[in-house]
Amino acid sequence: MIDIHSHILPGVDDGSKSMAETIEIVRQLQEAGFKTIIATPHVLEGKDYLRSADIRAITDQVRFQVAAAEIQVKILPGAENYIFPDMAKWARDGKLMTLGDAGKYLLVELPLLEIPHYTDQVFFELQVLGLTPVLAHPERYKGLVEEPERVLDWAKKGILLQLDLRSLSGKYGPQAKGLAKRLLGSDLIHFMGSDAHRVSQREGAYGEELRSVQGIVGEKKFGEMTLLNPQRMLEGEVVQRIGEYCLMGVGREKKGKRGFWSRISKILC
Ligand SMILES: [Fe+2]
Repeated sequence: MIDIHSHILPGVDDGSKSMAETIEIVRQLQEAGFKTIIATPHVLEGKDYLRSADIRAITDQVRFQVAAAEIQVKILPGAENYIFPDMAKWARDGKLMTLGDAGKYLLVELPLLEIPHYTDQVFFELQVLGLTPVLAHPERYKGLVEEPERVLDWAKKGILLQLDLRSLSGKYGPQAKGLAKRLLGSDLIHFMGSDAHRVSQREGAYGEELRSVQGIVGEKKFGEMTLLNPQRMLEGEVVQRIGEYCLMGVGREKKGKRGFWSRISKILC
């Protein structure tokens, strides 16, 4: 399996604090079944901007140490890019690291509380440049919990979606867990990510969540999300999607003839 979202580079963001910690996280992800990990440190516009050259250099150091520790896991560079209005301009100038440094897919993070008004515009501008935005953990944004139809709209426009495995354990609350299951059940998720920041204290970390995912989507789809789609992405190919997207089970309040409100469920396509 390929983990497309992690904070394993030591000392660059709120993730791993040392190379020793990095090695332990990588070991834990390997035990969960990951054979490739993309390091995606936070990249933000501003004075603390993390340059792609630095990401490459630190990823090389991690790769060397992982090999020295005799861990058979491939480490690739990437970034989790926090959205800002000039994002496409920065991408055009080569200032943003793509997933796996493969030049085609950009992992994008949104603010947790509110979806910025320029989000659609930025996604569109990135696509015009030939870049495919991959939205990090859609289930964790308050704005999307309240308005999940936007996720459907983006998927139809070619935005790809990466689920955070830990959302399924309830780490981010019942709403994130609920939306995670709904998106998985709707076949709207393209990739999996651990978003690992440090060594998990739980025995068999990620295994339970991976089994939950497999239970919801089935073996074939699970293989696509954890291996085939990331492979296509790293080879710069199109992540194939057959069929129309729909969002299952969107609840809506409706007033009946007798004046009481009932919750109805429908499928949005
Ligand atoms: Fe992250």
